Amino acid sequence: MAIRKIRTQGDRVLEKVCKPVSEMSDRTIELIEDMIETMYEAEGVGLAAPQVGILKRMFVIDVSEEGNDPIVFINPEIVATDGEQNGFEGCLSVPGKSGLVTRPNYVKCRYQDASLTWQEIEGEGLLARAILHENDHLDGHLYVEKVEGRLYDNSELQQEDAEQEG
Ligand code: NI
Repeated sequence: MAIRKIRTQGDRVLEKVCKPVSEMSDRTIELIEDMIETMYEAEGVGLAAPQVGILKRMFVIDVSEEGNDPIVFINPEIVATDGEQNGFEGCLSVPGKSGLVTRPNYVKCRYQDASLTWQEIEGEGLLARAILHENDHLDGHLYVEKVEGRLYDNSELQQEDAEQEG
């Protein structure tokens, strides 16, 4: 496993639409392992493949308190959303910044796991926010497009208000 370089805002790879994953090759398995390790090393709760320069429809998320329960999403599809949440959001590709983003509070997502078996997950709150944030990356979108008001430096915010995401 290896830590991969996280691309930052302005890198055109973050603006591209990613391609579906059709088979689980050794390279893709290695990519998944590296993405999980890179997410933990950067202390994020999510990381999408384009953030490490790979234009594939996959991301990893871990919103557990212990940070030891990663979920691998491959070819995800948002099948339902409901409600609304408004809160600070950040991104490993926009380091040191946060902004207020309104998103659905509930999401249902269909995705393939690391063995390409279809799964379905329902999430609320932070998990819903993380799934939607990461899914946006796969279509070349960053949360900064959705920010209400201005971007804040994390040093301006109370630590408990700033969620570092993917
Ligand atoms: Ni992000």
